[in-house]
Amino acid sequence: MAEIKSVGVLTSGGDAPGMNAAIRAVTRSAIFAGLRVYGIRRGYQGLIEDCISEFETQSVSNIIARGGTILKTARSMEFQTPEGRAKAFENLQKHGIDSLVVIGGDGSITGATIFSQEYNIPIVGLPGTIDNDLAGTDHTIGYDTALNTIMWCVDRIRDTASSHSRLFFIEVMGRESGFLALNGAIATGAEAAIIPEISVEVDQLKELIGSGFRKSKNSSIVLVAESPITGGAMGLAERARKEYPELDVRVTILGHLQRGGSPTAQDRILASRMGAAAIDALLEGQRNVMIGDDDEKIVYVPFSKAIHDDKPIDRNLLDLLRRLSI
Ligand code: F6P
Repeated sequence: MAEIKSVGVLTSGGDAPGMNAAIRAVTRSAIFAGLRVYGIRRGYQGLIEDCISEFETQSVSNIIARGGTILKTARSMEFQTPEGRAKAFENLQKHGIDSLVVIGGDGSITGATIFSQEYNIPIVGLPGTIDNDLAGTDHTIGYDTALNTIMWCVDRIRDTASSHSRLFFIEVMGRESGFLALNGAIATGAEAAIIPEISVEVDQLKELIGSGFRKSKNSSIVLVAESPITGGAMGLAERARKEYPELDVRVTILGHLQRGGSPTAQDRILASRMGAAAIDALLEGQRNVMIGDDDEKIVYVPFSKAIHDDKPIDRNLLDLLRRLSI
């Protein structure tokens, strides 16, 4: 196995708070270990278009507290083609970059898997997504900050919901997973979370109304995970208005608010630990693994596991929510 002398770092897919802390940790740990580091802007698309520059320790000064990603990001269609990946490889060679750290969600890790197989490049992934939907890691970078942002917003909606005795459906992100909705509901004392993982098993709206929440509550907040399976907040509100016309229903979609903001301490620390671990992994000869955290310990998760295995929600949390929202 050839010795690694340089590393490129990029962020890809949806940005997530804490990505900057991860870029900083990758850069500084690599330089500390004697490697050259290259920042690649705009994700895989930037790799294709040669948006690459060498980083020094100062390139990542004062970014740990900033949301978004200083490297910018993109969802590159061109990288999904063999021609696009060939251009990307040429640019790596041109700069003498012999390994990569890719920070992103499942689309980014999927891209890394294909690229590394085609060109035999050592790549290590960092889970950067607010969705927390990658298997093999308890937490992804950005999830805690997004959860806190949701909490901040829902607390404020509760004030107006209870003043008017209204039922609010609040839609949160998560792609096809309910981590943000379920834990957001527990953190805010919401009455229910409607999540794709159990939508096929039970009619959650019927269950909510059937539980008699109107008798004891003067307002109700339901967190809804965005997904065609749940029907989203709009779909559920429409149904509730039709089936329960006596209810005063409102909808809030939190949207991209959830992706911004200064990362929490937890995300900064997680990103710093994972960024340093990515360089350790490359130097140890690891390839095609994503850095994960398992009970506070750093673990190496094969790419195939991270993107293909199910990451089930904790059913105990659903029970907890039901018990506490009576
Ligand atoms: O994967 C992160 C995420 O924020 C998802 O929760 C959401 O479905 C999606 O990205 C939104 O993507 P975009 O910013 O491209 O609209």
